[in-house]
Amino acid sequence: MALKSVLIDELRDMYSAENQLVKALPKLAKGSKNPKLKSIFTAHLAETKGQIERLKRVFTELGEKPTGQHCNGMEGVIEEGKEALEKDEEGSSFEAGLIGAALRTEHYEIAGYEACISMATALALPKIVKLLNSNLKEELAAAKKITAAGVPILKLSAKEPEAPKTPKTGKEKYSAKKSEEDEAKAAPELSPSTATS
Ligand SMILES: [Fe+2]
Repeated sequence: MALKSVLIDELRDMYSAENQLVKALPKLAKGSKNPKLKSIFTAHLAETKGQIERLKRVFTELGEKPTGQHCNGMEGVIEEGKEALEKDEEGSSFEAGLIGAALRTEHYEIAGYEACISMATALALPKIVKLLNSNLKEELAAAKKITAAGVPILKLSAKEPEAPKTPKTGKEKYSAKKSEEDEAKAAPELSPSTATS
């Protein structure tokens, strides 16, 4: 059954993503100096461990093993989170970077679970849909909590003075160069009105 094998691949991706987050969330919690954010990240770490257990149950239902695929997407999202942790922003602006990083991880997972739930629904696998829905609900709630905790932090950050420009690191220079390449590659596809708006 073709869809079933696509679902298994997607689920293995999610399993890898959640395992990667077990290592990444403590770094966000440790890096944040905001007690509210710290506690959200720590609480979500505990939830993530529970999500891994649910995914294992999903694989047991399917009679498959959960490993077999590394999630490159989550690796990239976490890598961007590391960049936020390395930024020499201070105070609320530093926390603002962490909020952006954390929201990206949550929404990446939300997209993954929504896709898996649609597939499991089409395959009439109600037990699996139920387990995945529990994980999805936690991800949606975590994203909401991060967004809500972010409101006062971003207000403070907006009032902080601009930090003086520091010379770009090698990594930042490479990133800037790649972004220009992205723009140049897309340029022929963009109509002049899109390009200037
Ligand atoms: Fe998760």
